[in-house]
Amino acid sequence: MLLNERPEARRTERLEPVAQENQYRPLGASGISVPPLGTGTNRWRQGRNDESVSHAFRYLVDAGLNFFDTAEVYSFGKSELLLGACLKKESRPVVVATKFAPYRLLRSQFTRALDGSLSRLGRQTVDLYYVHFPYSPLNIGTTMDLMAQAVAAGRVRAVGVSNYSAKQMREAAARLERHGIPLAANQVRYNLLHRQPEWDGVLDACRELNVALVAYRPFERGRIGPVTIAGEASGSASASGKGKAASREKALQETLLTTARQRGKTVNQVALNWLLRRDEHVIPIPGTTKESHAMENAGALGWQLSDDEFAAIDQASALGNGAKGSRG
Ligand SMILES: NC(=O)c1ccc[n+]([C@@H]2O[C@H](COP(=O)([O-])OP(=O)(O)OC[C@H]3O[C@@H](n4cnc5c(N)ncnc54)[C@H](OP(=O)(O)O)[C@@H]3O)[C@@H](O)[C@H]2O)c1
Repeated sequence: MLLNERPEARRTERLEPVAQENQYRPLGASGISVPPLGTGTNRWRQGRNDESVSHAFRYLVDAGLNFFDTAEVYSFGKSELLLGACLKKESRPVVVATKFAPYRLLRSQFTRALDGSLSRLGRQTVDLYYVHFPYSPLNIGTTMDLMAQAVAAGRVRAVGVSNYSAKQMREAAARLERHGIPLAANQVRYNLLHRQPEWDGVLDACRELNVALVAYRPFERGRIGPVTIAGEASGSASASGKGKAASREKALQETLLTTARQRGKTVNQVALNWLLRRDEHVIPIPGTTKESHAMENAGALGWQLSDDEFAAIDQASALGNGAKGSRG
């Protein structure tokens, strides 16, 4: 797809899936595999963007990109409600992840929170249930015991954590192991401007424990891409911040843009392809409410950056955010 080609016309034909099952990535040892790219829904809101979202959802499922990420707190439950409404009209399999907000004090509130998510989603079972963040009155062991009970009750298929450090992941995985349940995923912020998981031990822990690293905010909310056909970075994509950080961000944008032009891709597609190539445990979940954006993001699949392209982006990105650069 060309740099600014944004197909707005309604599609009528059925698509060939862009992700084949042999390219799927496992959610750890949970037995569930998902397409290499999921979709974030934190801006989905029933009553506000239903039509646009339902077109995006339909396109994504047609394209085989059937992994959706929501949370009970997104739009105060209205993201789950809108995903639930989309699911109701869909007979094909869809993998749904949602998240428990662990600010509650009581164990009984865990069950009520899960009841609420299942009811809004219109499902009997959540495929992947995360603890949204580690700051909680309930300690990690107690929370994992509650998760294990939900798995035993058939209400949750796989257990994930989010925003957990490497140490917290190990604690969660060890506690789940007592119940014979693997930790399936840690969902953390990871993108070319924020490579913290590479140096704080989280990526290494994912490799060692066989846990998927679900990468949220892969575009750093618009600071990476999009670009216009003339190759100018758009307002939201231009370097923000001050001094050295801004010039490093600009250097990264220029490297991404050069690669995008050479490959006939967009900056967003190159940025997602880099994450996918960085490690087989990584599953980015770009957030979108629009079919045109979903189509563009799907174009990150089906090709691969060359070694030299990967290395150039790696180096430009590493300059700005504490990463030392990777070896592929
Ligand atoms: N676990 C956590 O604590 C946590 C925290 C934050 C986010 N998340 C999850 O991660 C997902 C992604 O993060 P995010 O939504 O914050 O950030 P993001 O994916 O980096 O950026 C989302 C933004 O990019 C736009 N966008 C998407 N595709 C685009 C394209 N091809 N061209 C131009 N713009 C495009 C979207 O606009 P449109 O809506 O107009 O398409 C939206 O404004 C969330 O939806 C959520 O599920 C989890």
